[in-house]
Amino acid sequence: VLRGAEPLHNASEVPVKRLPQALVIGAKKAGTRALLEYLRLHPGVVAAGPEPHFFDRNYHLGLDWYRELMPRSYSDQLTLEKTPAYFITPEVPRLLHQMNPEIKLLLVVRDPVTRAISDYVQASTKRPLDSFEHMALLDPRLGLINTSWAAIKIGIYAKHMERWLQVFPMRQIHLVDGHKLVSDPAKEMAKVEKFLGLPPFIRDEHFFLRGFKGTFPCIMRHGVPHCLDEKTKGRDHPDVDSKVLQRLRDFYRPFNAKFYQMVGHDFGWL
Ligand code: A3P
Repeated sequence: VLRGAEPLHNASEVPVKRLPQALVIGAKKAGTRALLEYLRLHPGVVAAGPEPHFFDRNYHLGLDWYRELMPRSYSDQLTLEKTPAYFITPEVPRLLHQMNPEIKLLLVVRDPVTRAISDYVQASTKRPLDSFEHMALLDPRLGLINTSWAAIKIGIYAKHMERWLQVFPMRQIHLVDGHKLVSDPAKEMAKVEKFLGLPPFIRDEHFFLRGFKGTFPCIMRHGVPHCLDEKTKGRDHPDVDSKVLQRLRDFYRPFNAKFYQMVGHDFGWL
């Protein structure tokens, strides 16, 4: 039996819709869906399922529209949503700060080379694409990286992070290691709970590895097993030419180093 944080609200309280007090801002294809679904295990969390894209796309619809998308919550619960496009959209930090300067931000990151391949795999399910190698390089002989390709640009974390840190202090941003979210989810989630000020609840017993390639954790929610959709998460990646991989690693190395310095943590990407 999973026990943990008991709700603090009194039984007569009527739940209402609230604006988010915390957000998963990105990065796309780093494990944002997994993070949100794991957080929803916690009795102190409610979250919008679909991505609202409020600050990057739907801002003109206003805060009442945004609030309406949120599930009802009690006063002792946190409301969350995830929209990975926030991380890379220049005006978002400022707009978000206007709504709530105290908001807590969660950013999942993953080796930018693997993230780029994951992004490519997703894009290629929507329309036929050239090979990854072809798209990643501007000139195969010179090995120049195509930095105007979104799959490459999103992984230049330092560049995006710089903009966030102009608006929010680092203490309001928690970095989640997308790799550890797969290899040791309970431990990575314990850090998230602490950052969000939630009582410890999520534990190893909430996770199990099932069919689904045996690689990715599934969760037990209210005694019901739940895995992420295997058609859209945990897809197979193509084998990418090792020279191209090396070029990409060389390309990202200085940006990664800058990012580690900014956030005060070395993720150890090669
Ligand atoms: P791949 O499909 O390339 O493996 P996002 O939700 O931000 O789009 O991230 C998708 C990635 O989340 C997947 O990329 C996968 O590696 C990762 N992931 C983390 N935990 C997962 C889980 N429990 N089930 C499936 N994918 C998971």
